[in-house]
Amino acid sequence: MAAPLLQLNGIALTFGGTPLLEGVDLMVSAGERLCLVGRNGSGKSTLLKIAAGLVEPDSGTTFRKPDATIRYLPQEPDFSGFATVSDYVEAGLAPNDDRNAPRYLMEQLGLRGEDNPAELSGGEARRAALVRVLAPSPDILLLDEPTNHLDLPAIEWLEGELADRNAALVIISHDRRFLANLSRVTVWLDRGKVRRIERGFAAFESWRDDVLAEEESERRKLDRKIEAEEHWMRYGVTARRKRNVRRVAGLQALRQSRRDARRAAGTVAMSAAEAERSGALVIEASSVSKSYGSSPVVANFSTRILARRRSSIFSSARSRRTAAAYGSAPTCKWQPSTRAARASILVGPSANP
Ligand SMILES: Nc1ncnc2c1ncn2[C@@H]1O[C@H](COP(=O)(O)OP(=O)(O)OP(=O)(O)O)[C@@H](O)[C@H]1O
Ligand SMILES: [Mg+2]
Repeated sequence: MAAPLLQLNGIALTFGGTPLLEGVDLMVSAGERLCLVGRNGSGKSTLLKIAAGLVEPDSGTTFRKPDATIRYLPQEPDFSGFATVSDYVEAGLAPNDDRNAPRYLMEQLGLRGEDNPAELSGGEARRAALVRVLAPSPDILLLDEPTNHLDLPAIEWLEGELADRNAALVIISHDRRFLANLSRVTVWLDRGKVRRIERGFAAFESWRDDVLAEEESERRKLDRKIEAEEHWMRYGVTARRKRNVRRVAGLQALRQSRRDARRAAGTVAMSAAEAERSGALVIEASSVSKSYGSSPVVANFSTRILARRRSSIFSSARSRRTAAAYGSAPTCKWQPSTRAARASILVGPSANP
């Protein structure tokens, strides 16, 4: 097996209360493509920050191959201290990196170097953060939610770009298709521990279900054993005559292991009183327009949204800019979907949709 570029061993971390990470191992070799999956709050981002050297664990060891370049994409990029997108992106380059490398990527992603990063849209901010980590062509990319806020063309571009590179990848994402297409190894973080399979995300769900079913069956076995021992303790003839010290200690150990087991969080059954509806009409907009300076975002948009109707708003991430370049405002229209209960609002630069 190839020597690891990155290796974490026995990582433990508690922020107070239940331990977040308990003896976690993570190994990444050259060119490996891992996805790191787990429920919200299971500690994925924290583990990635530990791998990036940004968070110190309570215990455990971290090895990074000394000449390997690592770049980390945070879940929430921080642009503070940077006046332009170029400044922010170039700050990610090492002294010997190609100073021109960011230009190609910025062009591909439709970013303008002179823009103020504080004024970027969510998608533009994510693109800028991606350019910053991709430009140095690192050996390992640690990517926390790289597709957040991206539109479909940008997600597809990113997928192609990552697939073409030799970099080892550790990806956290809630975009299942993106993970399935890219990952070759799945690392599942669950209740403080990791499990790993040498298969991509496409295999994850059935594997996880098998693991949880096996765990549940072990737990039931343990419960039955405890029940039988407790019965013996109460009613057994031998137990009444003379307490078997070893057997009593055994029962205590069984009870302890049941207490220690952190059960998988299942589907939470929730019932909420439906908010009282004040009427069928939720939103009525009439001839709404919005511009940032001279860039129109929405012009002359009217809609009525009714209660229980499902709507989505989508557009090209560049519609604002394209519209400005065309000298026309983006226009909006309803697009009734195939299902009567749904409808979409298209926002685009076309003057005559
Ligand atoms: N610096 C910190 N101090 C205290 N608690 C923290 C800190 N960082 C994270 N946590 C807590 O640790 C837990 C795990 O956080 P983390 O962001 O690693 O989860 P995650 O698996 O990435 O979740 P998500 O899928 O929502 O992004 C959360 O409950 C979070 O509130
Ligand atoms: Mg996270």
